[in-house]
This record gives sequence, structure tokens and C-alpha cells, in this order.
Amino acid sequence: MDKDNLANEIRSKVDIVDIIGRRIPLVAKGKNFFGVCPFHDDTNPSMSVSRDKQIYRCFSCGASGNVYTFLMQYEHKEFKEVLKDLGELVGINVSGIKINKIPTKYDHLYEAYNLACKYYQNNLASSYGKEAKKYLKERGLDEDVIKKFEVGLSLSNKNALTELLLAKKFDLKDLNEIGLTIDNKDVYNDRIMFPLHDSYGKIVGFSGRIYQKTDKSKYVNTKETAIFKKGQCLYNYHRAIDQARTSKYIIVMEGFMDVIRASSVGIDNAVALMGTALTNEQVKLIKRLSNNVIICLDGDDPGKKAALKVGEILLKENIEAKIVTLPNNDDPDSYILTNGKESFLNLIDSAVFYSDYKINSLKENINFNSDEDLANYINQVISEVVKIDDSIRVEIILKKLAKDYNIGYNTLEKRFQELKSNLKSAPQIVVNKPKRVRKNKYLLAMEQVLYYMLNNDWVIDLVEHEKIIFPSNETRLLTNEIIYYYKKNRVINIADFYTYLQTKPDLLQSLNEIVSSVHKETISKSELFAYFKVIKDYSISQEIKRLEELMKKESDCLKQAKIVEQIRKLKLGDNYNG
Ligand code: CTP
Ligand code: MN
Repeated sequence: MDKDNLANEIRSKVDIVDIIGRRIPLVAKGKNFFGVCPFHDDTNPSMSVSRDKQIYRCFSCGASGNVYTFLMQYEHKEFKEVLKDLGELVGINVSGIKINKIPTKYDHLYEAYNLACKYYQNNLASSYGKEAKKYLKERGLDEDVIKKFEVGLSLSNKNALTELLLAKKFDLKDLNEIGLTIDNKDVYNDRIMFPLHDSYGKIVGFSGRIYQKTDKSKYVNTKETAIFKKGQCLYNYHRAIDQARTSKYIIVMEGFMDVIRASSVGIDNAVALMGTALTNEQVKLIKRLSNNVIICLDGDDPGKKAALKVGEILLKENIEAKIVTLPNNDDPDSYILTNGKESFLNLIDSAVFYSDYKINSLKENINFNSDEDLANYINQVISEVVKIDDSIRVEIILKKLAKDYNIGYNTLEKRFQELKSNLKSAPQIVVNKPKRVRKNKYLLAMEQVLYYMLNNDWVIDLVEHEKIIFPSNETRLLTNEIIYYYKKNRVINIADFYTYLQTKPDLLQSLNEIVSSVHKETISKSELFAYFKVIKDYSISQEIKRLEELMKKESDCLKQAKIVEQIRKLKLGDNYNG
């Protein structure tokens, strides 16, 4: 059985509603199911999942596809892995099937990073790595951890990596561009090397740490490149996926060493910010794994400030995180090292909600003997309380506030209601929905025809019979694929068609646009002919335009006359043949 047939068979044995429904809540409405699309920022249920068609589509961001494309995007996996997962689910072994990777224009760059990673690892294992090994050992990192995190070593005053990669026929220009070399020389000298991965687990850069006394900066990271954007990665994300899903929470830490330490004691659901503020892209990554987030940054003042900031960013995205406070001189790394796993897990258990933490932090610098300070403080606290989504917690906090400061509960409650209604009437934060381009009549007609081709054999037959030719390149290519697929399989199945297009990402994009725009359930023959007419008229008008341009350049009277005649015929509409 070939890859596509196998994939189709596995797909036919699972229900997309079940697979998606296990991951995001779906609500039945009419024939379809609706949920909040996980592929863009949203709180509205704009994703619809069809049991009949076994596809999903988001009317807001335009994502669409079958069960495979959903899992690939949602779980950050390649087609091969998703196929294997679903195969296991339905008891079909896919191990004998060869699946070609979809080539991308960055493949050779990833290859350079992979080679560099191996090279650094070899250095660490070699006699050059003695001092670095000693340093790692002193920090309590054993061989297993070094191996798991692919820790390596760059060498001092050598140009060995550059030479190695040049010998492997890599281009110096490329190497400079991806930050492995600078001015044609190795970027990293005598540093312990940590590979950085994207959310799929591909190496996209490195961070190198000093390990001997020097005044050089502690870490040097790969510069931002076409494939490495620091703000789009979270350190250890690809390894944290499984445990974060099963444990149902994710821990956000500051640095590599924190995450590596946690992992060394079996806590594998931690990711690191790599010393920057939390970005929107990172929030999205976190949300894919869990809405239960534990922020566990360093115990020092900058760490506490950063924790507040991260908590606030997450709250704006509807996640109320919990915050762990470590002793002042600790980071998760040192805390776990001295106190052990159990003690750390106890801290995680006792983490406090962001809003409680914030309220507590507001106490700093307040002179509770001053009425003005106190009133200020109470107002600030209530401003925080209005952001809490849980009415029981709200009541508990207000009651405690009333008791602690001897203020009537009703007074506090009244203020709370005032601020709450202010909050509601405040302009809503506009979710930046991807802009949809306004489409003209012709484009709309074309989309409609293609959509119904994807869902009805008879429409394909009719398009062929009527010799409809789409004037735009992409749609013509897509139509050709649909017809080819139909002839090969003697039936059109939109869900399987997505699998078929897996190796043609550009066409998948066009397919997304078509499927995610609005269509009626069925179409009649006469409606279809009306669309055909729009498309034909458009083709004719394009052809006339082309001829008119030709006319302008033509000096030969005879040829001009010929063109005029062609245009006249086209305008009469009796000579249009595609
Ligand atoms: N960082 C960086 N550049 C620096 C310092 C820090 O990119 N000059 C990033 C690193 O990703 C680091 C994180 O910020 O992991 C946190 O910094 P820090 O707490 O100083 O590092 P640790 O993870 O504690 O590393 P170590 O224990 O080795 O000092
Ligand atoms: Mn640290």
C-alpha cells in the first residue's frame, strides 16, 4: 500500500470530531461542531469541524484541513509522526512505509546546525573538553543530562567549525547569515554550547556559556536569523510537550540551567524564557500545551518583577498563572540542587495565583498609618480584583480585605461593582484578526466553483465538460490537481485531498483560502452555470485587454486589422473557446 492510501485508510478509521474534541472543547451546532480556533488569538468559537466531511476550518484565520494537518499544527509534529500516532490508535503499523520529507528552502541551514551540534558534542567528549567537563561536573550535570540536552563545546582560537562546514560544501555566505560564522570565522570560541530548538525540535541556533574566569559576557546567543527568532522560541519546548500535556501544567523559568536541572530530577514540563520578556508568540506556544501556567523565575528582585510582568501578560491572554517565589538568592537550578525535587514540587503546589501575588506586592511601600496611603492601596487592590474571573475568589479577597483593614464589606463590594462596570464599558481589546482581502466577483465565482468541485464529483465533470479554464495561475494549478486526483481515485474526497496536497504547501495555502470562506451546503446546476459565466466573462475581458495592449505596439496595418477583428469577435462572445 502506498503512503497516501495508508494515510487515507487510517484517516477513515478515526473521527476528526473526536480527535479535535479531545484537545479543544467543541459544541454541536446543527450539522457541525464549533470551538475556539487554536491557531490564532481568539476567544470566539470560529472554528467549525465537520463530521460528514472530516475537515475543520476557521472562518477567522483561514486555517483548514483534515485530521493530519490539525495534529501537525496543534502538536507541532511532522506528518510522519502524526501518521504513526494515529496508526497506533487504530492498530495500523506504519513502520514499513517510507515518507519523504517535504523539502524547504532552509533544509541545508538546519543541516549546518545539526553538524555544528555534533561537532561541539565531539569536542566536549574529546581531550579538549577536559576543563569544560570538570566545570559541568562541578555544577552537578551528569553524562545523561549532557547527552539529553546535547551540550557541547566550541574550541578556543580555532576556526575548526568553519573549516569543517566549508569542507562539507557549505557556503560561507550562508554560514555568516545563520550566525555560525562571523567575518568568515567561527562565532563561538571556548564556550559550553547549548543548542536551541524551535517548537518542532529542530536546532535553530546556539547559546554558548563561558566556563572559565573571563570578562566576556556569560552567554552568547546566535543572532536573529531567518529561522531563529528568540522571541518565538521557548527553551526546551519540544521536550516539555508530553509532560506538560499529561501533568496538565507547564512551568516557565528564566534560564537554561534551571530547565536542565529540573529535567535532571524528572521534571520535564519546564520551559525557559532565555532571559527576555514573554512575547505573544511564546504565549501562543504555552497555550497549546496548557492553560495552567506556573511562573518560577529567579528569587531575586529582577526575578520577582519579571514574574509580575509575565503574569500580567498571561492574564491579558486569559490565563491566570500561578507564581512560585523562591528564596532571594535562589533560582530553580540552585534551589533544586540544594533542596531536592520533593521540596521543589512542594513549592509548585503552594504557588499563589497571579492576582493574589500582585495584591501582596502592592503592599510594598505603603504606609498603613496614612489614611491616604491605605485608601490608595485598597483601591489598587480592587482594581486587581476586578480582573479575576472567579466570583468565589473575589468574595474571599474582599472579605479578607474588609476584615484586615476594618472596612465595611459593602463599601468594598460597591467599589468593586463600579470598577467592574468601568472595565466592561472600556473599549474592548481588538483581537488582531488576520485581514481578509476583499474579493471581486470573479475571484468569488472561482472560489465557489473550486469549493464545490472538492465536494462533488459531478461538478468536476461539469467543469471539464464546459472546458472552464481559470485565468489565475494558482487556481489553475489547484484545479489540475483536483482533476488529476479525481481521475486517479475515481472519486473526490476533500479530507483525503488534504493529505494528497501535503507535499505541495503553496497549493495547500490556496486550498485553505477556498475552504475557509463561506459556502452554502449545496449548489444547483444553474447557480454553477452563473459562476461559469462570470469566469468566462472575466477571461474574455482579460484577453481583450491583452489584445488592446498588443494593438498599441503593432504598426503593421494588416495585423492591426486582424487584432481588431479578434477583439470584435470576443466582444460578440462567439469566438471564446477557453
Ligand atoms: N541570558 C543571555 N545572555 C546573558 C545572560 C543571560 O542570553 N548574558 C539568558 C540565558 O538564556 C540564561 C537566562 O538569560 O539562561 C537567565 O540568565 P541567568 O539567570 O543569568 O542564567 P542561568 O540560567 O542562571 O545560567 P547560569 O546558572 O549558568 O548562570
Ligand atoms: Mn539564573
